[in-house]
Amino acid sequence: MKNQKPCIGILTSGGDCPGLNAVIRAAVLSSERLGFSCIGFLRGYEGLVDPVEYMPLTPANTSGILTQGGTILGSTNRGRFAATTGEDNRLSIDPSLLAGVAHTVRQLDVCGLICIGGDGSLAIADQFHQFGIPVVGVPKTIDNDLGATAFTFGFDSAVSAATDALDRLRTTAASHERIMVLEVMGRHAGWIALHAGLAGGADVILVPEISWTFESVCQKIMDRESVGRRDSLLVVAEGATLPTGDMVCRTSINVNEQVKLGGIGQVVAGEIAQRLDRQTRTVVLGHLQRGGSPTTFDRVLATEFGVLAVQMIHEGRFGEMVCYRPPEIESVPIASAIKRLSRVDPNGSAVRTGRGLGISFGDTC
Ligand code: F6P
Repeated sequence: MKNQKPCIGILTSGGDCPGLNAVIRAAVLSSERLGFSCIGFLRGYEGLVDPVEYMPLTPANTSGILTQGGTILGSTNRGRFAATTGEDNRLSIDPSLLAGVAHTVRQLDVCGLICIGGDGSLAIADQFHQFGIPVVGVPKTIDNDLGATAFTFGFDSAVSAATDALDRLRTTAASHERIMVLEVMGRHAGWIALHAGLAGGADVILVPEISWTFESVCQKIMDRESVGRRDSLLVVAEGATLPTGDMVCRTSINVNEQVKLGGIGQVVAGEIAQRLDRQTRTVVLGHLQRGGSPTTFDRVLATEFGVLAVQMIHEGRFGEMVCYRPPEIESVPIASAIKRLSRVDPNGSAVRTGRGLGISFGDTC
């Protein structure tokens, strides 16, 4: 296919999140204004090679997707291009795959490729850049754990879903005088647990960044009982390690695969039930926090990211990633963006606010 106008390629990679379609729509609309055509590669990086799979993207066929969750392009987590196996473990992409991508880009006259993804997907984009493939990055993840941007889109929507779950759990917990444990996502960082816990009035918040003990968690529950509150709400990040230092996983590690976390909520609830002889219940929010329509904040952030990504291609600023540095949307080199994950600061204002309210983080402070 030869395009009349210079063509921008767009792909969405890794775990999906609300706001991906908002980026795609914004990029397509702004491409049109700057004289680019657009195509979308399907199933993340997979659609770039063997077989090459893509679809034209136009203002007409992206109309109405602003509010839709998921991604119209599909996504792949940990496919043939995986460039990480864990937080700091980088892999080199097979050079024949990189050559295949460069070939596709040439064949389709793609003048710039917008890669929308989290830490792992941006590490792939960085290797594309080193190989001479013209890429720009757009950060997304519900976990909000990319250090170079104050917020990623998807996070606010996930926090909203988790807060709604806490609101619902609060009333049933009170009716039955139960201890409710909500497990939320957050592999390396406890941002979702922290923000939802503050917004939903949790009594205990457990995050990967703060070591905690069962004694301290149980003490908080007993303190509440001593003032007549026999119900308690706990929110636990899936990546919060047990006091033994172990993470709770659903599956064992396979080569090139991320450990599937999950189950810590059940472990915490079981131990509390045993230690305090109280009724506990666990809810694992799971992918409910990744689906559905983006919040207004995420729609705006995703839209600003999409427009700037096209502008960066227009200006030839390849190898850079858009980011949010309040109050401005800016850009940073992808290479530096993937160097540092953003974690909850145990001495930061959000944790201090929680402590100020009497929320327990399961530690002894
Ligand atoms: O990285 C985002 C994330 O939501 C993590 O918090 C979670 O561990 C992971 O995705 C789950 O991914 P999958 O869709 O493979 O279950």
